[in-house]
Order: sequence, then structure tokens, then C-alpha cells
Amino acid sequence: MGIQNIPEHELARLREKAKEITGSQFDYQSSYTELLSRRLNGEPLQYIEEYVPFYSIQINVDQRCLIPRPETEYMIEIIKNNISAPKKILDVGTGSGCIALMMKKLFPDSEVHAVDISNDAITLAKENAEINNLEVNFYQSDLLTNVEKLDFDLIVANLPYIPTSNLPTLQKEVIDYEPLIALDGGEDGLLYINKLLDNLKNTNSNELVLVLEVDISHAQSLRDSITDWKDVKLEKDLVERDRYIVARK
Ligand SMILES: C[S@@+](CC[C@H](N)C(=O)[O-])C[C@H]1O[C@@H](n2cnc3c(N)ncnc32)[C@H](O)[C@@H]1O
Repeated sequence: MGIQNIPEHELARLREKAKEITGSQFDYQSSYTELLSRRLNGEPLQYIEEYVPFYSIQINVDQRCLIPRPETEYMIEIIKNNISAPKKILDVGTGSGCIALMMKKLFPDSEVHAVDISNDAITLAKENAEINNLEVNFYQSDLLTNVEKLDFDLIVANLPYIPTSNLPTLQKEVIDYEPLIALDGGEDGLLYINKLLDNLKNTNSNELVLVLEVDISHAQSLRDSITDWKDVKLEKDLVERDRYIVARK
């Protein structure tokens, strides 16, 4: 892309980042040029800035994790509207740790666990816990494999949901920079979500609430396929698209 493709508000943010790096309001040109060339190469602005606001906290981001999306930020509202005081929470596919950390912030008396298959993501999530001074038990796990006890009353997950064949249609800056493991949902996009639902089939936890972020194209069929949970419902995002499934056991 050429500089004419970069909107002025992004250039202003790059200038601010250059000032932050150099510690100077005036002598930041060479740093700015370097940041600009990264942006011109297609690197997402958030990775260049190194952090993003997420709901009411700040999260460091880099190529170890997916950049948290506005839909996921809105999922925090959905969770708040569906459970009042969870005691033990699990976030599956935590990435940067954004959802798990926000859970601890909103429900400080709860015990929060969070897993990811990627060790890199877990390392970053732990850094984010420290930066935000929030206590979450982050550990590596392929879905629930390393989760010892399934005695949670809230499980949240934003797992990869893009069908493998759709990956080449994603924006270049997504496919070139964000981790593939955070995007690729297998042949139909539902590989991990269905596996998770399968893993949870035999939990006999009382009052377990499950909140999933899903693709709009999967939402209705997925809702209809979940027959072993009570009150399975779809929730909409800010632009009225079916984006979340809430289910209770
Ligand atoms: C769509 S990203 C979501 C990241 C973060 N929760 C968010 O909302 O920004 C999906 C995450 O699931 C993780 N993941 C993929 N397959 C997994 C698996 N089998 N078990 C656990 N985590 C997995 C990826 O590494 C990635 O961090």
C-alpha cells in the first residue's frame, strides 16, 4: 500500500507512537519513518502501537496473539447480562488473555482460569495479567485436555471459526501477521467449537453458563444443533448480527 492509503488518523497515531518511543515531541522523525514503513508493509496498526484498549483495561498485543476485535469486547456485555456473580470461570482459547482478564476485573471475587493451545499466547497473556495487576491462572491446553476439574459456573470461548478454505479471502494484513492457529476453524469452521461442546457433554455441573462467540453464518445452525443444554439462545452484536450463543446446563 502507498501512504495515500493510510488515513490521517492512523498517521497521527504512528506519530504519537514515534514520540512515545523516542521520548521526544520534536526529534521523532526517524522513528516515525520506521513505523510508517512497517504500516506500509501491511503490519496492523495495533501491533505497531503494541497495545489496545479492551473494555476497561489495556492489553499488550503482538504477533503471538489475535488482535482483540470489537465483537469480543461486546461479548463482555453479553456475559454481564447473562450471569451476575460467577464463582469459577474458564476462558478457552484465551489469546492475549483479554476476556479472562476482563472477567477477573468485573468479578474480582471469582477464580479465573484460561487456556490456549499456543504457548506463545499463554506467555503474552501472563504478561498482560501482570501489567493489569489481575490474577488469572493461565496455562497451555488443547481445549480442555489439561483442565483438571470442570467445576466452572461460567465457560467463555472465542475459538477459531473461519473455514480453512476462506482463509485466503481474509485481508492481507490479517493473514500475513495474525496467528493462523487463532483463525483456522477447520473444514467447516466449527471444528473447535464442536469439539468443545463435545467435551462438555458429560459435565454435570449445576448452573453452568456457556458463552460462545460464533460466526454469523454458523449461529442459527449451531444453536439448533445444541440439544443437550437448556435455554440455548442467540445474542446479537452492536450491529444486530447473531454473534453469540448463550447456553445453560
Ligand atoms: C479467535 S482467537 C481468540 C483470542 C482471544 N480469546 C480473543 O477473543 O481475542 C482463538 C484462540 O484460540 C486458540 N486455540 C486454537 N485452537 C485451540 C485449541 N485446540 N485449544 C485451545 N486454544 C486454541 C488460538 O491460539 C487463539 O488464541
